[in-house]
Amino acid sequence: MSVNIAILNGPNLNLLGKREPEIYGSTSLNDIEKNLIDSISGKDITLDFFQSNKEYELVDKIQALINKEDQFIIINPAAFTHTSVAIRDALLATKIPFIEVHLSNIHAREEFRKTSYFADIAMGTISGLGANGYLLALNHFVSLSK
Ligand code: DQA
Repeated sequence: MSVNIAILNGPNLNLLGKREPEIYGSTSLNDIEKNLIDSISGKDITLDFFQSNKEYELVDKIQALINKEDQFIIINPAAFTHTSVAIRDALLATKIPFIEVHLSNIHAREEFRKTSYFADIAMGTISGLGANGYLLALNHFVSLSK
């Protein structure tokens, strides 16, 4: 079965590698994306990468995936994790199964980061495993498609 996986990243994740590396690591978003592409080599899987600092662009991107066959989403909503009813509603509207990923452990940081607008509607959440979190989420969807 052919599978489509959109990997969506929210604000400031374009600065990964340079941004607070002690918290988010030294791997750039580009390197994370290359690793994901390498990991699916030879498989019937299409990856679609999208990063935006704008909430409405993430909403539009999710809406554009509606009604696509065998579609999954891996999303790191970044700061929108703790604020965005709009992105939550877009995911609910499209009913696309998704995994929420965070590089840092959001439960071991400031109080406001402990609230996620996504955790209760996600298939699962990976938090605190750095760039590996994306790979683990991707492997999960790959295992479902077998
Ligand atoms: C983050 C955690 C968020 O609290 C933060 O706003 C981010 C990144 C993470 O990947 O650890 O930008 O989602």
